[in-house]
Amino acid sequence: MASFKPAFKPAGLLLLAFCITGLLYHFYHFIITPPFPPEPQTSIPKILWWKLGPKGKTPKIDAWTTTCIKLNPSHTARFYDDAKSDAYVASTFASQPDIVSTYLALTIPILKADLLRYLFLLDQGGVWFDLDVSCESPIDTWIPAAFKDKANLVVGWEFDSGWDFGFVRQFATWAILAKPGLSHLALTVDNIVAGLHQAAEKHNTDIAGLKLDMIGDVVDMTGPRRFTNSVYESLEKYQNVTVDVESLAELKEPRLVGDVLILPGYAFAAGSNKYTYEVPKPLVTHHYAGSWKNEHGGEEGG
Ligand SMILES: *[C@@H]1O[C@H](CO)[C@@H](O)[C@H](O)[C@H]1NC(C)=O
Repeated sequence: MASFKPAFKPAGLLLLAFCITGLLYHFYHFIITPPFPPEPQTSIPKILWWKLGPKGKTPKIDAWTTTCIKLNPSHTARFYDDAKSDAYVASTFASQPDIVSTYLALTIPILKADLLRYLFLLDQGGVWFDLDVSCESPIDTWIPAAFKDKANLVVGWEFDSGWDFGFVRQFATWAILAKPGLSHLALTVDNIVAGLHQAAEKHNTDIAGLKLDMIGDVVDMTGPRRFTNSVYESLEKYQNVTVDVESLAELKEPRLVGDVLILPGYAFAAGSNKYTYEVPKPLVTHHYAGSWKNEHGGEEGG
């Protein structure tokens, strides 16, 4: 026994150290503030991100996305289908296994497509577009010179003007511009992963077992309201900026809040806003193809 002990002890300690390391690793993003401070960088990467559905590039999708590609010849266009997205998330976020396992287990296409855009932008930054968005002017002209260095995240109001306001303002998520590694996107992702786990627990299932009718409103789970609220939360948490939404209502020109540039409703959502005065031309047009708005939460077939 006596001769066995010395050999056993180091092994036990090693095992203990191994377990603690594993636990720390597992809870890393819960106990340590996200490793994504708002790093000032020179510009938003010239990458255009799109996620293709099972039907691929239909003629309409091709026409819309081509307007953005043609207007931005110095940008790199990247189209990801389901398989390529899964592989991308699995390798890029390997150090955050909760993100990977949640993303891969999800079966509802709109939830995956929502989460994917935040992951692309968190990892590499660039410009996310939904497939039913066409561009009206070059991206390089979208950010006024005064904000070029300060704006780490660029978003546009969805419903902002001409409404009888009985609802909360939200950022459109069909067009988002970001520098890489922003806490805003890290927190959005964390909140979504936590929200999906809560919904699964509530319905006595796991992520793979989640159905559209279990997750409440998509807008709140992964969509614009989740994104908007997470950005507010991150501004407050990491930049000590309290967002006073009333002061940002009916914007006539872009407004910087912390490092977030908010564009007026006419920029990304001209079709959702009415103005009693003349406003500049829209930057993009959203065509509301809305293929996810069915009981399956995504394109059928394929
Ligand atoms: C946060 O902002 C408030 C109000 O502007 C200010 O009083 C406070 O000192 C700030 N806190 C930090 C930690 O910067």
